[in-house]
Amino acid sequence: MSSNIFHIVGARPNFMKLAPLYKNLVWKENIKQKIIHTGQHYDAMMSDIFFQQLEIPTPDYNLGVGSGTHTQQTANAMLALEQCLLNDKPELVVVYGDVNSTLAATLVCVKMGIRVAHVEAGLRSYDRQMPEEINRVLTDSVADVLLTPSEDANQNLLKEGISADKIFLVGNIMIDSLCLALKLIEEKLEYTKKAQEILQKIDCQKFILSTVHRPSNVDTPSALKRLFEVFKEIAQTYYLILPLHPRTQKQLQEHSILDKIPEKMLIVAPLSYFDFICLQKNAFCILTDSGGIQEESTFLQIPCLTLRKNTERPITIEKGSNTLIGDDYELLFAKISEIEQGKYKKAFPIPLWDGKAAERIGQLIPHFLKK
Ligand code: UD1
Repeated sequence: MSSNIFHIVGARPNFMKLAPLYKNLVWKENIKQKIIHTGQHYDAMMSDIFFQQLEIPTPDYNLGVGSGTHTQQTANAMLALEQCLLNDKPELVVVYGDVNSTLAATLVCVKMGIRVAHVEAGLRSYDRQMPEEINRVLTDSVADVLLTPSEDANQNLLKEGISADKIFLVGNIMIDSLCLALKLIEEKLEYTKKAQEILQKIDCQKFILSTVHRPSNVDTPSALKRLFEVFKEIAQTYYLILPLHPRTQKQLQEHSILDKIPEKMLIVAPLSYFDFICLQKNAFCILTDSGGIQEESTFLQIPCLTLRKNTERPITIEKGSNTLIGDDYELLFAKISEIEQGKYKKAFPIPLWDGKAAERIGQLIPHFLKK
């Protein structure tokens, strides 16, 4: 008899975590998989393109939850998920990361008696102002199986009193997708058409790649204005490529922040996964408030200056190429100068960030089904 496993995803950073595990489980006899997309992210460039490039099948269900306040988004996802799971109940649900859809899915499943495995469990910024931190803490406190990317995550969970027999150190699954992407973009230039166009436009000169979308950076007009003044200053010297997240674009428009864009500041629409990885691996340095990009930069050994006061991924600071900048822009310019002079710290490989996390999870899954 076969077992049904559902993967529940909703937002851009979930999709590169889903792809390797889905593909690994396809080869297991007696496992049938379905994908539920809550629809938290719905634009083609925030969602569909990732399914195409990562060759993830079209979701079996798309619940069309869309945007809203945190409560609306989480509650709408819960209502829609409950209906969906009442009609089609799996033995195990896999949830990913820390977005609102992750928490919504976990709550619905545990209340319906469906076992939940959380991929990327145990990360903590210890900053409860971050909506994602609430999602992480709550998801981990009720999920049945906690699959962690690094040893520090195990320690965080143990400190919260979570039983050790629920915790499995499997490594960083996002690096599985990154390894595959690096191979594919070398093989086929057409996968990174947009990135090639950008590189041509700047005549392959040194550039800084930046992404900002955290509420702490973009939702307060004064903070966003100050950040963009800093970007403009950077663009006096370096090319600054900025793929714009819809949240950031909305804020910039609403508060008329972007006038007179310097010639070296290239604002572009959200990029595909392959285009972004191509730019990331060629960048002089990264400026970001994303979580995943801190990890990717560490793996790629590209300096990463994080525009946040804390991180749930401290290993990228201790062993990797990441430095927390917060809003200390003097420090930012000092670090850019260190990088320029070749004095910036070097990144070391992180155990189990090796492209084989999905394989390790795949080996464990049958045990979770038997319990
Ligand atoms: C969400 C996640 C965040 C993750 C980020 C990656 C939560 C709490 N936040 O933040 O952890 O780092 O995704 O991108 O789950 N929008 C569009 N098109 C889309 C999606 C969103 O235009 O396809 C716009 C809408 O105006 C929306 C805003 O972006 O209101 C924010 O989207 P939302 O999903 O609420 O949060 P993100 O900022 O994307």
